[in-house]
Amino acid sequence: MSEPFYRIRRLPPYVIAEVNAMRAAARAAGEDIIDLGMGNPDQPPPSHVIDKLAEVANKPDAHGYSASRGIPGLRKAQAAYYQRRFGVDVDPESEVVVTLGSKEGLANLAQAITAPGDVILAPNPSYPIHMFGFIIAGATIRSIPTTPDENFFKDLERAINFTVPKPSAMVIGYPSNPTAEVADLAFYERVVDFARRHNIWVLSDLAYSEIYFDGNPPPSILQIPGAKDVAVEFTSLSKTYSMAGWRIGFAVGNKKLIAALTRVKSYLDYGAFTPIQAAAVAAINGPQDIIEKNRELYKRRRDVMVESFTRVGWPIPAPKASMFAWAPLPKELAHLGSLEFSKQLLTHAKVAVAPGVGYGEKGEGYVRLAFVENEHRIRQAARNIKRYFTSLGIQGNDSIAAE
Ligand SMILES: Cc1ncc(COP(=O)(O)O)c(C=O)c1O
Repeated sequence: MSEPFYRIRRLPPYVIAEVNAMRAAARAAGEDIIDLGMGNPDQPPPSHVIDKLAEVANKPDAHGYSASRGIPGLRKAQAAYYQRRFGVDVDPESEVVVTLGSKEGLANLAQAITAPGDVILAPNPSYPIHMFGFIIAGATIRSIPTTPDENFFKDLERAINFTVPKPSAMVIGYPSNPTAEVADLAFYERVVDFARRHNIWVLSDLAYSEIYFDGNPPPSILQIPGAKDVAVEFTSLSKTYSMAGWRIGFAVGNKKLIAALTRVKSYLDYGAFTPIQAAAVAAINGPQDIIEKNRELYKRRRDVMVESFTRVGWPIPAPKASMFAWAPLPKELAHLGSLEFSKQLLTHAKVAVAPGVGYGEKGEGYVRLAFVENEHRIRQAARNIKRYFTSLGIQGNDSIAAE
């Protein structure tokens, strides 16, 4: 028997898990850890959604296997969302599939379309499944930048000219996790043009479609004419409605890609529990005030974090979207690297963050801070960090410790 197994050998130790394990151990020892590490919403979904879940769960015929590709009402609700939010028509029969969270959809689409040795273009740094979905499927990753600027397109051209075999697909995701960068329609237009010219599939991850702070709703790649020839887009109820544990996401777009994902899923799962799918319909079709409320909540937390951390000597750039700040390490501690800095911060300031290197080598030098603790706890984090910095002789420019 040969061990470690082929696919397991392709998975390096999950760096972020190291900090998570330290956080869990500290909490088990009774320490109060302020957790800015994981992007796990701390709010509940709207009550009408929970009511619908309970109502349908009370029906005796709601407990069998569900539909792997999603119940028709949920696919229709998602199609209606694309029409009302982006002005994009999608056919709920052939251009929409419900996934068990967008992460599952990304991973299984990678399985569906990848042959061992295929080359895939994926951003670095990025949400790990963007790379590892394909790595598990046997592909080789060629990194492209995360920042959606001119350099991005230069790198794409280089990748096409110098990679053998020619890349077969690319992944993009804006608002970005972890960098919080956003893309506009002009960017997507160039991506679609590039992909059509070179016969490359595009997987766009729009998990943070509704979490933005500057009044500019993030666009969909499917708004670009011809995008459906090459692209599929993933969205999720996890952040939009604070339903991360429910595991409902969607893939929408190119028929061939949707059919491939639907087919792989038909071998693997029976779909989400029907009451969850029915409640997801209620979330998408029902009152939408939770979206605005969540947006305001995350914005207030963002503002408190940027202001209070900057004041204690750690300048944090304000993100325009997503639920994260992507923060360069404080310059006095940059030499530690992001993993060691995260460990030190946990040990000495009782604040958990996600080390940037966990999102790829280009994430080194940064940590990701999630807006999943309340304002009071964020201010407490700033006070803890100030004490830690003061013990090292790092000066802020405030009197926050006295607050
Ligand atoms: C960019 C991005 N894509 C996808 C996901 C996964 O979301 P889901 O809960 O729909 O699987 C996340 C979760 O944090 C994310 O940040």
